[in-house]
Amino acid sequence: MINIGIIGCGYWGPNIMRNFQAIKGCQVKMVADLIPENLTKIKKLYPQIITTQNYKDILRNPQIDAVAVITQAATHYSLIKESLLSGKHVFAEKPITLKSSEGEKLISLAKKRRKILMVGHVFEYNSLVRKIKEIIKKGELGKIYFIFSSRLSPGPIRSDVSVVWDFAFHDISIITYLLDKNPLRVSAKGHNSLKKSLEDFGFIDLEFPNHISSRISVAWLYPTKERGMIIVGSKKMLVYNDIDREKPLVLYNKGINWSAFKKSKKISFYDKGVSYPKVKQKEPLRVECQHFIDCLKKKKTPLTDGKRGVKIVKILEKIQKSLDSNGKLINV
Ligand SMILES: NC(=O)c1ccc[n+]([C@@H]2O[C@H](COP(=O)([O-])OP(=O)(O)OC[C@H]3O[C@@H](n4cnc5c(N)ncnc54)[C@H](O)[C@@H]3O)[C@@H](O)[C@H]2O)c1
Repeated sequence: MINIGIIGCGYWGPNIMRNFQAIKGCQVKMVADLIPENLTKIKKLYPQIITTQNYKDILRNPQIDAVAVITQAATHYSLIKESLLSGKHVFAEKPITLKSSEGEKLISLAKKRRKILMVGHVFEYNSLVRKIKEIIKKGELGKIYFIFSSRLSPGPIRSDVSVVWDFAFHDISIITYLLDKNPLRVSAKGHNSLKKSLEDFGFIDLEFPNHISSRISVAWLYPTKERGMIIVGSKKMLVYNDIDREKPLVLYNKGINWSAFKKSKKISFYDKGVSYPKVKQKEPLRVECQHFIDCLKKKKTPLTDGKRGVKIVKILEKIQKSLDSNGKLINV
């Protein structure tokens, strides 16, 4: 039995806890949070779990094999470091750290201590996103031209990181996962309508190799909830709507009719209808938590290990540089 200790049980922690609890061969033994009311809620749901306001109680407990760090991003570095130094494997929420240099230190530490370090990039465990990757890999879309991605909703507004570090994190994780590529250049503009120092909306452009472009729009001040992508290829186009439970993926067999163009020199589109790729959906968090447990049992490197975590932080650092210089094009 793998015993897990959770540090941080605010908004997201209970979801991580529910999923680890449901996995065979592991159990959440302890939960720490600074806020007593959060612990009372946990105790009501799971009376057998030991709760504490002092996370060090978890790190000191020799029965705990692994720690899940589900606290605000700014606290990740010190909590992950202390957990690894206490001999625990670590599952940490995204972003691994707010500085790539700190993330690199954690990678070395985990390696030195022979501990698993995994970062919760939940969309890389999402069946819909995995299906899109399969479709792209098979060449069904043809050459990818561009990807539009939106993550817009009325909050939740954070006070420790901007909407770019919070929301666009996911879009960058998904797009780099889908393309298996890192951007060459980035440029970004954003604004702080609510607070002086943190952007609450942002528009980010990423240039990838092979002339693939991507635009990400993120906002916390928005009337409706939008989570999705449009991927335009030379053969087909794909719409991914993460909110639509019925038809989350729509494949448009639509594009420029080049053979007609050769004859008439006029641009026209072919339109051979739409299809709805079938996907057996599983809760992404369950798949993610199960992967962590599998990696622990089989001593495997997680798909979203420290290196992958730092990769995304490095891209975000360049995006931040561009945001701070009003959209300057920055090499990654
Ligand atoms: N993957 C996703 O889709 C997703 C969604 C939401 C949040 N998250 C991530 O989860 C993390 C937490 O986000 P949240 O929305 O739950 O934040 P939150 O502010 O609601 O909760 C964080 C909790 O951590 C506790 N905490 C902080 N420092 C602590 C310490 N030293 N010891 C014990 N408890 C401590 C706080 O008391 C708080 O209750 C963030 O890294 C965020 O990016 C990921």
